[in-house]
Amino acid sequence: MYDYKLLIRGERPLEGETYVSGGKNTSLAVLSAALLCDEPCVIENLPDIEDIHVLYRIIKHLGAKVEFDPKQRRMEIDSTSIHTTEVPFSFTQQMRASYYVMGALFGHFWECRVGYPGGCDIGSRPIDQHLKGFNLLGGEIRDEGGMICLKGKPHGAPINFDMITVGGTINVMLAAAKAQGNTVLLNAAREPHVVDTANFLNAMGARIRGAGTDTIRIKGVPKLRGVTYTVIPDQIETGTLMIAAAATRGNVIIRGCIPTHMEALTAKLLEMGVMVTEFDDIISVKVNRAHRAIRLATQEYPGFPTDLQQPMSALLTRANGTSEVIENIFDNRFKHLDEMRRMGAQVVISGKRAYITGVSELRGAPLMAGDLRGGAALVIAGLMAKGETEIINPVYIQRGYERLEEKLSALGADIRRAKLS
Ligand code: EPU
Repeated sequence: MYDYKLLIRGERPLEGETYVSGGKNTSLAVLSAALLCDEPCVIENLPDIEDIHVLYRIIKHLGAKVEFDPKQRRMEIDSTSIHTTEVPFSFTQQMRASYYVMGALFGHFWECRVGYPGGCDIGSRPIDQHLKGFNLLGGEIRDEGGMICLKGKPHGAPINFDMITVGGTINVMLAAAKAQGNTVLLNAAREPHVVDTANFLNAMGARIRGAGTDTIRIKGVPKLRGVTYTVIPDQIETGTLMIAAAATRGNVIIRGCIPTHMEALTAKLLEMGVMVTEFDDIISVKVNRAHRAIRLATQEYPGFPTDLQQPMSALLTRANGTSEVIENIFDNRFKHLDEMRRMGAQVVISGKRAYITGVSELRGAPLMAGDLRGGAALVIAGLMAKGETEIINPVYIQRGYERLEEKLSALGADIRRAKLS
């Protein structure tokens, strides 16, 4: 898996039609929510990416009967056979979303012993808000040799998050779905995957209202019934494909997406002079003029997503003028711009701000992908650059994007895998 690199020959406009796969972060939350169910569940439209395989292995380790068909994008989970509530660090360190197993196991079995989560190195990523929520729901929390131990019968409670956290909101929602009594989550995250997870829980019989607003009300139910559920398309993959189309001055139709989830990005692309047209579940991106520099600040949904900051800032390296990018969510999410300096990008980074002055051309160079969205940003840089770009460590990209190279190749990109020499 680690023994290849990506080679990209840039300056080819992307043209044609492509499609969006199921949402990564939604799927990870929904699959974890299935662990709360008292009957078998079927989850459809899963992306065939490494993070889903990691979660599959965790679910299997717990003893659930689970069948994953990556070709059909479908997983069947029967959590009634779960025989352990312990998940070793060797599993949890493989990805950030392993934290959801905690909320689900605590909610269903009233106890768990789970390793701390891993994930992309994009700055400090504490889980204090998750633990605060579990504690307020009645969980006694101990750190035993680097493992988080939770015990107690969950009961409803009002919980006011100290900051907006996507993972924290979903995790505490999982723990509260079957708790006795009413829970209110205040200052909740409003991301589409919060809503999708609540929709899945409600389809199983949970009583959750307000997901998508900053106040979520949960009336605990004793049992959840099995359902078949289809996860929503990936918001960040949609955005990455839109940015790639704009970066190559292409003309691309993206099918199977939810345009309303993309409004913050669409507004910024329009501001840059990119033509974006929205239909029911289709977005078309077309370029017929030079890109203008913009000011951009990441925010929680419905603001500009931090996960698209990296691909977007790659695009801005070729815009006319100086752009200012402010990263408000994570404190170390500009490493891709350091790599891009070797391609000729002009960037000044000062704390949470990056000032990017557009250049007339980028030159292909050997680059190192350091995290998932940073890796996607480097692919976009390679698509824009003159000559050949070599990306080492593309495994990061594979963790979160389904068949990105194949999708880009089908649109006319010259991108291929090569053996690491
Ligand atoms: N935070 C805390 N304490 C907490 C939780 C969060 O201080 O208990 C802080 C974080 O350090 C960060 C901010 O709050 O500064 C927001 O973190 P959040 O909890 O919202 O992020 P996350 O749950 O760790 C999810 C996505 C990320 C995405 C962020 C923000 C998953 C598995 N991950 O992470 O996705 O960037 O929300 O939208 O859903 C990615 O897909 O590449 C990715 C990194």
